[in-house]
Amino acid sequence: MLANKGALSLSLFSSFVFSTQIPYSEYILAPSSRLLTAGEIYMINGTVQNAACLTSDGSACGGAVFVGVNSSVTLDFGKNIAGTVQFNVDSVNGSNEFLGFSFTESSEWISPYECDATQNSGRDAPLWFPIGSSGSYGADKYHQRGGFRYMSVWHNSSGTLSLSDLKVNWTASPSAEDPKSYLGYFHSSSEKLNRVWYAGAYTNQLCTISTDTGSALSLSLDDWYYNATLTNGAETLVDGAKRDRLIWPGDVVISQPSLFVSTNSLDSTKTAIDALLANQQSNGQLPYYVGPPIDLGSSFTWSFTYHLHSLNDIHDYYIYTGDIDYLKSVWSNYTLGMNYIVGTVDNSGLANVTSSNDWLRSGMGGHNIEANAIFYYNLGLGVRLALAVGDTTYVQNWTTTASTIQSAANSLLWDSSQNLFKDNEESTLYPQDGNSWAVFSGLVSSASQASSISDSLMARWNEYGAPAPEAGATVSPFSSSFELKAHYAAGHADRAVNLTEFMWHDFMLEDPRMTNSSFIEGYSTNGSLHYEPYSNDPRVSHAHGWSTGPTSILTFNGAGIQLTSGGGQNWTIVPSLGGLSSIEAGFESPLGIFSASWTQNSGGLDGDFETPQGSTGTLVLPASQGNTVTISGPGGNTVQGPSFNGSTVTVNNLTGGNYTVRWSS
Ligand SMILES: *[C@@H]1O[C@H](CO)[C@@H](O)[C@H](O)[C@H]1NC(C)=O
Ligand SMILES: *[C@@H]1O[C@H](CO)[C@@H](O)[C@H](O)[C@H]1NC(C)=O
Ligand SMILES: *[C@@H]1O[C@H](CO)[C@@H](O)[C@H](O)[C@H]1NC(C)=O
Ligand SMILES: *[C@@H]1O[C@H](CO)[C@@H](O)[C@H](O)[C@H]1NC(C)=O
Ligand SMILES: *[C@@H]1O[C@H](CO)[C@@H](O)[C@H](O)[C@H]1NC(C)=O
Ligand SMILES: *[C@@H]1O[C@H](CO)[C@@H](O)[C@H](O)[C@H]1NC(C)=O
Ligand SMILES: *[C@@H]1O[C@H](CO)[C@@H](O)[C@H](O)[C@H]1NC(C)=O
Ligand SMILES: *[C@@H]1O[C@H](CO)[C@@H](O)[C@H](O)[C@H]1NC(C)=O
Ligand SMILES: *[C@@H]1O[C@H](CO)[C@@H](O)[C@H](O)[C@H]1NC(C)=O
Ligand SMILES: *[C@@H]1O[C@H](CO)[C@@H](O)[C@H](O)[C@H]1NC(C)=O
Ligand SMILES: *[C@@H]1O[C@H](CO)[C@@H](O)[C@H](O)[C@H]1NC(C)=O
Ligand SMILES: *[C@@H]1O[C@H](CO)[C@@H](O)[C@H](O)[C@H]1NC(C)=O
Repeated sequence: MLANKGALSLSLFSSFVFSTQIPYSEYILAPSSRLLTAGEIYMINGTVQNAACLTSDGSACGGAVFVGVNSSVTLDFGKNIAGTVQFNVDSVNGSNEFLGFSFTESSEWISPYECDATQNSGRDAPLWFPIGSSGSYGADKYHQRGGFRYMSVWHNSSGTLSLSDLKVNWTASPSAEDPKSYLGYFHSSSEKLNRVWYAGAYTNQLCTISTDTGSALSLSLDDWYYNATLTNGAETLVDGAKRDRLIWPGDVVISQPSLFVSTNSLDSTKTAIDALLANQQSNGQLPYYVGPPIDLGSSFTWSFTYHLHSLNDIHDYYIYTGDIDYLKSVWSNYTLGMNYIVGTVDNSGLANVTSSNDWLRSGMGGHNIEANAIFYYNLGLGVRLALAVGDTTYVQNWTTTASTIQSAANSLLWDSSQNLFKDNEESTLYPQDGNSWAVFSGLVSSASQASSISDSLMARWNEYGAPAPEAGATVSPFSSSFELKAHYAAGHADRAVNLTEFMWHDFMLEDPRMTNSSFIEGYSTNGSLHYEPYSNDPRVSHAHGWSTGPTSILTFNGAGIQLTSGGGQNWTIVPSLGGLSSIEAGFESPLGIFSASWTQNSGGLDGDFETPQGSTGTLVLPASQGNTVTISGPGGNTVQGPSFNGSTVTVNNLTGGNYTVRWSS
């Protein structure tokens, strides 16, 4: 694999030429050309001659002929895509001819006569073209459809039309010269996980949009388009491909890390963060979201948790890029934002949340466990950033505040009869989000408490996934992404692997109502594609960045490559195979290549890893008592051991380079 990894770094400078050499590029779902033709016909209604001319096999055809009223073809692109439709009309017989194009992500909403939905009631109308004469036709970029797998072409007039060269111009990730040119890769012994990793990466590509094609909210059903300018720059990372096409900082907490380990196209998250900061209030509040229809200047909307997610997003952007100048340039925004939240801590020791806005879960408010665990986590990140910037003004305050929250949450919100945290003091709700955050943030008071939360969360699974009772009868791939992190942090990697396999792969990819390529935003615990916060099922987004947690989590927690300071100057390699027989992953930061490849052998984990020259890090391996590990690295340095520390062996102060790890009994 090392030879291939050399090609990875070259790909930075010459992505097009070297893209085929990226390991495992055969799993990448992004198209190699931006002009797409459908692979298959899903159904034909009325009279359509030579319909196959509209598919990729139809290059030798003259054209598909639509005869009379209600002749239509529904095409299947085989995966979720985004773009503008274009076609050629070869001949027209009729004086008042029309073609309408209808789009849907899920097969549940296929219809020649209407799209799925963007609004909370009704269905979107087809995109209509009056056909006056033969020639080329095409939608402008504001009339792109942001997510669809199926497209119907409906001829609703009485004459006859011949249509050819029907294509979709793929408009996602507009800055990518070659959308297949990833810098990161993943592979494991589980084909299910491999597919999930790449589907997550692809989902975020669909959610990366041209900055002037934002907002699907509050449109007319008969005249939908995306024309809001969200921020400066060429492209930005939004919540969903079809909708809302707005910048939500909570979603970015999941989508940015997964973008980083795959395409590494972080210009889109920088523009998103810039937009959030540009709307910060003088008291420090950061916006719940950015984009119309709300004019932020006159009706600012705030969320305690999403405010914290903006701070988290800034942290992650700095860690992935090492851009210390950027961090310094936003440091006063950051400290103002953090200290605003510090000011909400009351004499209980917990923050008192006064905004109910969150990820459409209910019950947010008061001494909420989710909010306080996110806050606890952010205080730790804030200290890390303060040390990087060299401004220790608030380090003492933030450190003390964090320990106050930790002890207050454990004494006021822990319920030992359930082995879970309550949502708040008076609540009988035991949320998925707050308990997951409590585990991986380290707010829990012991490893055994973490492990018992993992037990309790797993006990609630059903065949469709891990429920989020704080959002009704809902499975949330957003909240469940945090649950995956919790199982890893609690030492139950096998549970994270299992949940990813049956929820993200078996259901979210393989179910025939899904796109088999991108991840849905939420659904019901009974497996219906009803997301409780919405009254209109066709509205649900099937390409939502907040559902892509496994992509970064399998890289960071499975292959175990973690960056602990800007750009990965410091790192920890801590693999957890969770029952897999092999796992490997790689990505790049501006400092260089990070990669790791592990195989489970009888003595322990054998493997190789690479980190950039000049960096420093720690290796943490699961240890098998009685066996010996040999770690060979740069300069011939060889560590033999292990010196056991419980069930792991830890080697500190490794310098960046290529390492091999071998166990023997
Ligand atoms: C279109 O054709 C399909 C399959 O032949 C059929 O099931 C469906 O009812 C038809 N729909 C309309 C609107 O005619
Ligand atoms: C064509 O289909 C539309 C939509 O279902 C329906 O309203 C209309 O009556 C149909 N027209 C004919 C001529 O069948
Ligand atoms: C055009 O349509 C009319 C009526 O539908 C038909 O009589 C005529 O033959 C058609 N002409 C051609 C050139 O196909
Ligand atoms: C595809 O759409 C983009 C953005 O609207 C446009 O710049 C480009 O020229 C189109 N490509 C083709 C081949 O039509
Ligand atoms: C978007 O389109 C609407 C309706 O045509 C128009 O009123 C509005 O000015 C447009 N906005 C932008 C930013 O172009
Ligand atoms: C936050 O940062 C933005 C962009 O850098 C700046 O324009 C704004 O004034 C800052 N807001 C506050 C409240 O400091
Ligand atoms: C939180 O603050 C609000 C507003 O000041 C207050 O009404 C509420 O009682 C407080 N909640 C708790 C749990 O102290
Ligand atoms: C942190 O600072 C705020 C004021 O900025 C103060 O109210 C609070 O008591 C301090 N907390 C600690 C733990 O020092
Ligand atoms: C997940 O674990 C359950 C219970 O142990 C098991 O029945 C199931 O087969 C596992 N699923 C996968 C996809 O491994
Ligand atoms: C972080 O990296 C720097 C430079 O490589 C090194 O001096 C420092 O000791 C490292 N810190 C830790 C905690 O490993
Ligand atoms: C790493 O090495 C430095 C210098 O040799 C030493 O001061 C430090 O204690 C070591 N750190 C760890 C975590 O072993
Ligand atoms: C790791 O080995 C590869 C192949 O020999 C080499 O190209 C690369 O520079 C090495 N990396 C480091 C950090 O030394």
